[in-house]
Amino acid sequence: MNVETVSTAPIEGQKPGTSGLRKKTAVFMKPGYLENYVQAVIEGVGGVEGRTLVVGGDGRFFNDKAIAVILRMLAANGAARAIVGQNGMLSTPAASNLIRKRGAFGGIVLSASHNPGGPEGDFGLKFNIANGGPAPEAITDAIFARTRALTEYRILTEEAPPLSSLGETRLGGMIVEIVDPVKDYVALMETLVDFERIRRLFASGFSLRFDAMHAVTGPYAKAILEGALGAPAGTVVNASPLPDFGGHHPDPNPVHAADLFRLMFSPEAPDMGAASDGDGDRNIVLGRGISVSPSDSLAVLAANIHLAKGYGEGLKGIARSMPTSRAADRVAQKLGVDLFETPTGWKFFGNLLDAGRATICGEESAGTGSDHVREKDGLWAVLLWLDIVAARGQSIAEIVTEHWRTYGRDYYTRHDYEGISTAAGDELMADLRASLETLPGRTFAGLRVSVADDFAYEDPTDGSVTRRQGVRVLFENGARAVFRLSGTGTEGATLRVYLETFEPDPSKHARDPQEVLAGVIAAADAIAGIRQRTGRTAPDVVT
Ligand code: G6P
Ligand code: ZN
Repeated sequence: MNVETVSTAPIEGQKPGTSGLRKKTAVFMKPGYLENYVQAVIEGVGGVEGRTLVVGGDGRFFNDKAIAVILRMLAANGAARAIVGQNGMLSTPAASNLIRKRGAFGGIVLSASHNPGGPEGDFGLKFNIANGGPAPEAITDAIFARTRALTEYRILTEEAPPLSSLGETRLGGMIVEIVDPVKDYVALMETLVDFERIRRLFASGFSLRFDAMHAVTGPYAKAILEGALGAPAGTVVNASPLPDFGGHHPDPNPVHAADLFRLMFSPEAPDMGAASDGDGDRNIVLGRGISVSPSDSLAVLAANIHLAKGYGEGLKGIARSMPTSRAADRVAQKLGVDLFETPTGWKFFGNLLDAGRATICGEESAGTGSDHVREKDGLWAVLLWLDIVAARGQSIAEIVTEHWRTYGRDYYTRHDYEGISTAAGDELMADLRASLETLPGRTFAGLRVSVADDFAYEDPTDGSVTRRQGVRVLFENGARAVFRLSGTGTEGATLRVYLETFEPDPSKHARDPQEVLAGVIAAADAIAGIRQRTGRTAPDVVT
């Protein structure tokens, strides 16, 4: 085997964000950019000699070429085995499952999630550890430190094998094992939800549209929904993965999955609508005339999960990210289980899941998952909803409104201001932080502030502390506004403003969240000066 040691110098800005390193594809394709980062990952995680790694991605433009480089570098750095999804495809949850199932040291997952793909789009690389979850901060910090000290990288001169045929080949001293990306995942799902019951649901005429958005979940959804569960052909739309996702953002929100949302609010709506994102970890669920907010979805799934095959023993605990609404807290309280509030980013759930302290986790950003893997899992959430619908014999709308009747409704919305200047974003947050002490007792747009802080999280399993995770403002009427900058963008800054208020009275549960929250929205703007500082009169995306 011929290992080439290439001298290099540190490249600025290779700092992993909420979910690994995300950059414009063109940046990742610059000579040495990917190589430098991969070498930093290899060294940052303590080397790969003799180790097994899972490698795969969401199939976006540059996925296959990047995998070829990664394989040559893993081999050159002494890895024993690389388990690779056929044609380089692995959804994020399927990669997490494979790492766990095969006892791998970790995995390299290539994706920029819901961001667009293509030469002008985005690319990303994330390292997942042996539990199948995204590397925690200590490791991403070590990777970043290596990017700043790198002098050389190691790569095999041989070409990597084609990724199209299943089975084992050799690359230098490393075995490359190409696996079916779908098979193990289907087997896992079968242990968690009742396939037989969902099959009967479809056989009785229940209709679903699953929009795979030309991203990685297409083959998974086809195999499970139309294959194993017998849903009619055509249930899964946009099912073939494309390197540029057909030119769209593979993000299941009202803007980018507009067709699905339109259909679900039209007379032709099927019983259920659902979509996932680029790498298959996000989900949105809709019923006829209703879109389930991700925060409500977490609460409803938590309240009903005991009905599903794999969760008969109920929940150990529930975890949600801080900006996610407090709907899940009410379920935890009723069930008498712990509720954990973590910073944004799935990696913060890993320790809680490993320690058996939480069973289900969720985020407002269309993420739901459980202890079956260490990533959020889009298709799993859809299957769990189907199983609950089948078990309860009710429509999605009935299940959700009944949930609100029982627990009250947490009206919720998120307003995103995308692509604002980094300076404007930083300044807005810095000024907010500086004003925290003076906010309590003051009134903004008619709402009096009771508490204001900058969220910090102490991990109850290892005591690690993560600070500056978003500004929370609580009002005396119980409403809440949260401000933070996105950690997944690739251009400028994105300001996210999360707004919520609680309504216990069932006669007031059928209102439009934007209307109900108008006062909180106005107060948030008055506190942070959003319009004035960003020059925007309205958010770019409302979820
Ligand atoms: C990714 C992460 C999530 C996170 C989301 C939004 O999908 O996996 O855990 O909630 O990004 O992050 P952001 O920093 O953009 O708000
Ligand atoms: Zn994703």
